[in-house]
Amino acid sequence: MALDTSALNRQRFNLDHLDDVWLFGYGSLIYKVDFPYLEQRVAYIEGWSRRFWQGSHDHRGTPEAPGRVVTLVEAPGETCLGVAYRVSPRTFEYLDHREKNGYLRFFVPMWFSEQESGEGLVYIASPDNAAFLGPAPLDDMAAQIARSHGPSGPNADYLFKLASALTELGAQDEHVAELARQVEDILLA
Ligand code: BEZ
Repeated sequence: MALDTSALNRQRFNLDHLDDVWLFGYGSLIYKVDFPYLEQRVAYIEGWSRRFWQGSHDHRGTPEAPGRVVTLVEAPGETCLGVAYRVSPRTFEYLDHREKNGYLRFFVPMWFSEQESGEGLVYIASPDNAAFLGPAPLDDMAAQIARSHGPSGPNADYLFKLASALTELGAQDEHVAELARQVEDILLA
């Protein structure tokens, strides 16, 4: 799959007949909310885990030295906590460009509580995209994040902002928390 997925996302679903759509955010969409929304709710999805397995050539790294950012990987029995935004379909014109590095939009069920659910879109960078890096030992991933920089700033800032936002939400995400501890140690050494 091509690296720039914005054109693919435009063709994927016709949202024109909808007044609004739920969007599930689990990464930078939690702390960088630079788009209009109609409503915001804490939500979770089932069967997915957040992992720093996607390469970033455009925001937190460069084509020569990609950083690492989050994607979702299938994880039966796990839940992933994030923030859901009810947005106008027009918002995806902007978000598809912002999140164009290998992410495709998928419809998933999302839960606002044990009793209340909805369907919405989520951006996922699947293993078949050109920027996918996949798993690596945690200390290798921490070293890569600690040294990577891109047009949007240091890769470490992305990780630290996400880790703090998840703590504020009350999410327990050991993958993100442990990476943040290791990167902080590297940068303080
Ligand atoms: C998110 O925060 O949901 C998100 C993560 C990666 C790419 C696009 C969106």
